[in-house]
Amino acid sequence: MANTNLGEARKKKKDEFYTMYPDIEREMVAYWNFNKDVFRDKVVLCPADDPEWSNFGKFFADVFDEWGLKKLICTSYAPKSNQGALFAVDIPEEQNAPHYDPDLSMTRGRVRVLERKDLNGDGKFDRQDMRWSYLEGDGDFTSPEVTSLRDEADIVVTNPPFSMFRDFVAWLMAGDVQFSIIGSINAVTYKEVFQLIRDNKLWKGATANSTDMIFRVPESAEVKPDDRAKAIRMLRAMGGQYANLPDDANYTRQGNSCWFTNIEHGKRHEWLDLDTMERNRTKRKAKKVIRDRGYPKYDNYDVIEVGFTDAIPSDYDGVMGVPISYLDKHNPEQFEIIGLAAGNIRGLAGVPTSTGKDGPYIDGKLKYGRIFIRNRNPEASA
Ligand SMILES: C[S@@+](CC[C@H](N)C(=O)[O-])C[C@H]1O[C@@H](n2cnc3c(N)ncnc32)[C@H](O)[C@@H]1O
Repeated sequence: MANTNLGEARKKKKDEFYTMYPDIEREMVAYWNFNKDVFRDKVVLCPADDPEWSNFGKFFADVFDEWGLKKLICTSYAPKSNQGALFAVDIPEEQNAPHYDPDLSMTRGRVRVLERKDLNGDGKFDRQDMRWSYLEGDGDFTSPEVTSLRDEADIVVTNPPFSMFRDFVAWLMAGDVQFSIIGSINAVTYKEVFQLIRDNKLWKGATANSTDMIFRVPESAEVKPDDRAKAIRMLRAMGGQYANLPDDANYTRQGNSCWFTNIEHGKRHEWLDLDTMERNRTKRKAKKVIRDRGYPKYDNYDVIEVGFTDAIPSDYDGVMGVPISYLDKHNPEQFEIIGLAAGNIRGLAGVPTSTGKDGPYIDGKLKYGRIFIRNRNPEASA
């Protein structure tokens, strides 16, 4: 029991990782570059948006006018309900408001709204025109109150609480909204999430796997010294307010965080430039394992093993097992996702196993988890 509680507490601490403005900007700009009307006349909801620490609401308020948003709604979770909350919550704008109540501030969620109303008469719609009030409840995203805001929204954008990622995705799907959210790359192997990826209802965002994301963290968060040091180096390189960050500033990098979305972006329409099977085996820079063994079939699947995304053969028309990191490069016009085979995942491979085992085996050895894909047009790409 004690261990479970500890595990829960650890997870909850990760619920308080705060996304940096440039990471939000990079991803949203990718959607906007693909379609300049993507946010136009849309209601955008940022749930889980702490008014002091979160940058989602700030970002959308900054682009509200230029991108033509109809309405921005940001909700936050009451500190009293949030065991993981480690930050102070009351910001001066709120404390100075006539309706500010320190008791309610502990127990209620807050909602901040920006509409196309120039409340301060400065000729634009921006952060200064946001108005806030207490929610009736604590701002839990599953509450009827926040759920009805989801139903009002066209697009939901946030970094949801880490420990509730699955529930959050289910909540989004139930609302049939567009969304862009941050999660761990490992979430692609969650059964519910993978099925959505396979069915082209959810995909990786535009930010590449290779781009580290930085998060502001509570003082007590467990941060690997290397991750802290790397985050601080990256932030200092940005200059400005970050130029003189001390070595012990509370930030971390997360190499395994990524965006999940159902909003279109250009990266998922880029074609992988691939060689034929023969050329992958014989070219000067052939991968050693492919030069030596070619593309063996798994013991238990009529599927070939392709251990590297850049060695996917352009001319193979059967099913291929590729690394999970392939999803970062997936173009649904080029390849169809058939399934997921991994030792601990049952019944998702999409092709029959001859041994009853789910994981992909070669010579009796369990390989890493693999995504099974098929080229939609092998001749054309050969
Ligand atoms: C990972 S943090 C991200 C915060 C913010 N979206 C950002 O990225 O800067 C998750 C946030 O969700 C809030 N939260 C935790 N449980 C929640 C719940 N059940 N409903 C709504 N928000 C919740 C936490 O207070 C925290 O602010």
